[in-house]
Amino acid sequence: MDNQFRVLVIDDDDPSREVMELLLRKAGFCVQSVNNGADGVALVRDGAADLVLVDLFLPDKSGIEILREIRQLAPEIEVVVITGHASAQTAVTAMKEGAFDYITKPVNFDELKIVIAKARETQRLLSENVYLKKQLLERFQFNNIIGGSTAMQRVFERMQRILKTDSTVLLFGESGTGKELVAKALHHNGRRKAYAFVAVNCGAIPEALLESELFGHVRGAFTGAVRDKVGKFEAAHHGTIFLDEIGTMPMHLQSKLLRVLQEQEVDRIGSTKTVKLDVRVISATNADLEGQVRQGTFREDLFYRLNVIPLHLPPLRERREDILPLVNHFLDKFRHLMARPTISLNKAALDALERYHWPGNVRELENVVERLVALTEGDAITPEDLPAEIVDQGRGSRGLCLDLSPQGIDMPDAIADLERKLIGKALELGGGVKAKAALLLGLNRTTLVEKMKRLGI
Ligand SMILES: Nc1ncnc2c1ncn2[C@@H]1O[C@H](COP(=O)(O)OP(=O)(O)OP(=O)(O)O)[C@@H](O)[C@H]1O
Ligand SMILES: [Mg+2]
Repeated sequence: MDNQFRVLVIDDDDPSREVMELLLRKAGFCVQSVNNGADGVALVRDGAADLVLVDLFLPDKSGIEILREIRQLAPEIEVVVITGHASAQTAVTAMKEGAFDYITKPVNFDELKIVIAKARETQRLLSENVYLKKQLLERFQFNNIIGGSTAMQRVFERMQRILKTDSTVLLFGESGTGKELVAKALHHNGRRKAYAFVAVNCGAIPEALLESELFGHVRGAFTGAVRDKVGKFEAAHHGTIFLDEIGTMPMHLQSKLLRVLQEQEVDRIGSTKTVKLDVRVISATNADLEGQVRQGTFREDLFYRLNVIPLHLPPLRERREDILPLVNHFLDKFRHLMARPTISLNKAALDALERYHWPGNVRELENVVERLVALTEGDAITPEDLPAEIVDQGRGSRGLCLDLSPQGIDMPDAIADLERKLIGKALELGGGVKAKAALLLGLNRTTLVEKMKRLGI
């Protein structure tokens, strides 16, 4: 046995303690011994032991008390209690309190060695387990994707499962929720990571160019095709292609895309030669693609082909626990980038950011933090530095602007107007769900519905 394993003996019976110390040292352990509980607990607190042998009867504290203190201080340390043969009941209590084992006096040294070996093995397995869990957790965090909320943890779990497959993934989520970030993480953590990740924003490329952008063309295929062009699909061979804003793709290209996905091959425009493809397809949309299918603007068969594994990214307002960690994440980033290491937000400013509904999600939050770090003079960002819409929303009803002109107003009208505005805002915040809006307004749902009817909303 190596001498790294540290055993602490707590026993007030001098001969017994000294013998144990001697024998354990001979067996190769690193041994310390004390004759009272207080010194023993202090050593444990200093992290000086891996295993504690404690006599149940000590002058200052009972062995059970020491056991409890050690379990609290350092739950990873195993405690073995030593009992006189008359104290079987106490031994049982000790086991219930979490002792690893007990041995009776006079101590049989072979028995003691076996107990210690078992305790070591248990410790090793436990720490390995903790290590594995930690590793798993780290992988679950996908490098730079912040998401402690349950909603994001669910996303990470799903991503973990997606990594084991090669199926087509369709990402749903409002603008700025991290669709591209997730697509990249899926690529860079997956088995295709040695190959290319090729992103195509279908919404940003003029319709006339999109086809050749995706599939390539040969020289002379059309006017202006002065040389061969490799399409994005071919460029992504063995890797991943990310088709962003897939909902904007025109119908005739949808048919062609479907063919490419089904056949796993492309032909460049103007070419008769087909190229075999091995590409993982991840697409993304912030539109209601199913609605588009119903309306006939998106091919149903293509939708199913793309939507083998759907993954929904929740809007930031539905995972408010993530707001502060994200603020800190971006604060770190821009502090570093803009060489302003000491700038920070005060509590009131953080509160306002936490209350805001972030219609532009993480992207909006990132932009706000960047602007704050860039533009705030001095080191403390306060609510006065924040954009008006964020502070206004934070202020809630207290911030209502009351404008009573000298000519007077029609009060019922003004109140109706105010109600309309509040309901509109609540519906927006609640994503159009009346039950959520009612909750935000402190009304029950039927009252809200009646009011809406009365106000003509
Ligand atoms: N959970 C997150 N943790 C850290 N950064 C994030 C997170 N989500 C998004 N971001 C960052 O926010 C920005 C917007 O994310 P991304 O471009 O992936 O969103 P998107 O859903 O593709 O948006 P859009 O629909 O507008 O294209 C990026 O800079 C991204 O790195
Ligand atoms: Mg995007």
